[in-house]
Parts: sequence; C-alpha cells; structure tokens
Amino acid sequence: MIGGEVLIPHSFIFNGKLGLKVLTLAILGISAIGCDIERRKSDAELGLNAQQAAGRRIYDQYCDRCHAPYSSRGRHGPSMKHIFKQPYLPMSGMPANDDRVRDVIRMGRDKMPAYSQVLTEQQIADLLAYLHTL
Ligand code: HEC
Repeated sequence: MIGGEVLIPHSFIFNGKLGLKVLTLAILGISAIGCDIERRKSDAELGLNAQQAAGRRIYDQYCDRCHAPYSSRGRHGPSMKHIFKQPYLPMSGMPANDDRVRDVIRMGRDKMPAYSQVLTEQQIADLLAYLHTL
C-alpha cells in the first residue's frame, strides 16, 4: 500500500511533465506554421501611400507567385524582403538601385519573365515605390 501511494503521485508528475513537453512542442509547431499563414496586412497597416499601394496590386498580380515580399524564404525566385535595404541584388550582385531593378523587371533574368511589354513605365514606377517599402 505504501509503495502504491508513492508510485501513483510519481506517475502523475511524470505524465504532467510529459504532457507539458507535448503541449510546448504543439504550441511551437503551431506558431511556426502561423508565420507562414500570417493574416494579410492592409495597405493602411503597412503605412503605404497611394502609389505604393498601387505598386502592391501590381506586385500581387505579377511578382508574388515567385517572390515572397515579407518573408526571406525563396519561392521560384529570391525573396524581395529588404530588396532595397541591402547594397546588392541577391542573384546578380548588381547595386540595389532603381535603375538596376527596373532593368531586371523590363528584361527579365534567367527563369524570370520580362515585363517591358506587360507593364507601363508608370506601373513599373509604382512597383519600385512599393519594393522600397519591403
Ligand atoms: C516565374 C517566376 C518569376 C516571376 C513571375 C518574377 N520573377 Fe523575379 N526572379 C525570378 C527568378 C527565378 C529570379 C532569379 C534570376 C537569376 O537566377 O538571376 C528572379 C530575380 C529577381 C530579382 C533579382 C535580380 C538580381 O539581379 O539579383 C528581382 C529584383 C526580381 N526578380 C523582381 C521581380 C519583380 C518586381 C517581379 C514582378 C514584376 C518579378 N521579379 C517576377 C522569377 C520570377
């Protein structure tokens, strides 16, 4: 009887700790997934002005499927997060400035299509304004 009294609470403590570990892992797992399916922020939440918001629409339509804007993970192409906040472009190593990025958008690169026949100069300017916010 005495042994039983010692054993039962002990096994409870063990289960409790194990349960806590499982729960912690589950929470960590859910929060890791949470990063990827994060709710889409509105233009206002991102603090975008009218031109940047217009650029975002273009980005969503033409660029998003290959380039993640707010995560550093690659899709078919490199992430666009902090594209203008770093000195050089990720693939070519060219300086990260409007002229070089405009060229990439117009002419394409490797598996990236060219957009000179698709987007107007104004649309490319809007797109650049948005890329500067990433
Ligand atoms: C079909 C997929 C695809 C689409 C759509 C696409 N890209 Fe790309 N992009 C790529 C790939 C792949 C690369 C890497 C090219 C390489 O290997 O040099 C790239 C590279 C880039 C680079 C970096 C170039 C460098 O010099 O390092 C920029 C900037 C870029 N894309 C912007 C855009 C923008 C803006 C759009 C929308 C107008 C867009 N991309 C649409 C696939 C795509």
